Amino acid sequence: MLILDVFSPLLLLLLSILLPRYGCGAADIPEDTTSEFSVRLYHQLQAAGDQDNIIFSPLSVALALGMVELGARGASLEEIRQTVGFSHLLPGVEFSLLQNLTAALSGDDTHYVIRFANSLLLQEGVTFNPEFLHLMRKYFRADVETVDFSESAAVAEQINNWVENHTESKIRELLSAEDFSSATRLTLVNAVYFRGSWRNQFRPENTRTFSFSRDDGSEVQTLMMYQQGDFYYGEFSDGSQEAGGVYQVLEMPYEGEDMSMLIVLPRQEVPLASLEPIIKVALLEEWANNVKRQKVEVYLPRFKVEQKIDLRSTLQELGIKNIFTNDADLSAMTDGKDLHIGKAVQKAYLEVTEEGAEGAVGSGMIALTRTLVLYPQVMADHPFFFVIRNRRTGSILFMGRVMTPEVIDPNDQDFDSM
Ligand SMILES: *[C@@H]1O[C@H](CO)[C@@H](O)[C@H](O)[C@H]1NC(C)=O
Ligand SMILES: *[C@@H]1O[C@H](CO)[C@@H](O)[C@H](O)[C@H]1NC(C)=O
Repeated sequence: MLILDVFSPLLLLLLSILLPRYGCGAADIPEDTTSEFSVRLYHQLQAAGDQDNIIFSPLSVALALGMVELGARGASLEEIRQTVGFSHLLPGVEFSLLQNLTAALSGDDTHYVIRFANSLLLQEGVTFNPEFLHLMRKYFRADVETVDFSESAAVAEQINNWVENHTESKIRELLSAEDFSSATRLTLVNAVYFRGSWRNQFRPENTRTFSFSRDDGSEVQTLMMYQQGDFYYGEFSDGSQEAGGVYQVLEMPYEGEDMSMLIVLPRQEVPLASLEPIIKVALLEEWANNVKRQKVEVYLPRFKVEQKIDLRSTLQELGIKNIFTNDADLSAMTDGKDLHIGKAVQKAYLEVTEEGAEGAVGSGMIALTRTLVLYPQVMADHPFFFVIRNRRTGSILFMGRVMTPEVIDPNDQDFDSM
């Protein structure tokens, strides 16, 4: 879920939620050109993240920036085009591209649920450029409403209800009255919601308590899911001598096969940090193109990861600076030249379970059978990198890493608001 909050000074909040349980599909659509940006974002977060889990939605960030770009001119516009990866397109074509990518991801609801919901709240009495509003509706299908931001508690409640409605109540109390003031002019809210079920689901009765070894050598107890099934699998080398440089890539499709989760797992004795620097767009493609369908034994933690990211500093590092300064040119939104982005935050949430249904959890230990393995074995009992992407367009819905799997409590229905 993602929120853009614009006032004078502009406030921008970005949030994302993911609840994969049911798969996802796409029609024939153009290739996503924002992958380079996605990977740069990851490396930026990795550099700042020490030993923490990472989860974010590159596509949400691209959509949010697309909405800002609609209202931007001059250097503000150019920096977004350059950084996100639109500079090779004719001016304005990126909006059509974002629209098509969104449409392609929002397929039928039989295999999966994925929704992009955009909402635009305007200050009553402020005149916005009609062309800007028209394009917001056209490309981002944004609901437009007017509110009085000086009634900050009522506005916060309205947005929180909207967010709750679009996240199956997973996010509540997102914003509070203090987030708004009489200076607020415009709030953009973008919720991305995804629920996919594995094509091959895990059986809850095979889930066991298991030890997960963190990269600092400590161990945490986690719930480990298990299955033996047909997946896409490959072994690759990072070119280093350490443990032969070999690491595993497992692609687990969601129902419908259009969406999948790629899991990249180094050898047990190799920290994830030594693998991360080699991650590039070309390598993502190499993994996707070279994994082969075969039977694999999979041990994957049942986990959730969530993260709140200060996108303002992250985007500035990547070259999007102008919109955050007094020199910002957002003159396509209103005639006033005094708008800039004050704040940019994304919160993302990912929950990975057997299939989504709550099942009884065994408390025994899995008997390790490493010496009796008939098929390749992917044992994710140490840190791994993951990507959830559309297999046709290459769009990256979510990207991150699990350094410590947080166990999902079946009774825990919500998580902290911002
Ligand atoms: C988006 O789809 C429309 C309709 O199929 C097509 O005309 C347009 O060229 C597409 N835009 C891009 C950027 O691919
Ligand atoms: C949320 O959904 C309920 C039921 O569909 C509806 O009554 C309510 O108006 C919605 N709230 C918002 C803010 O969209």
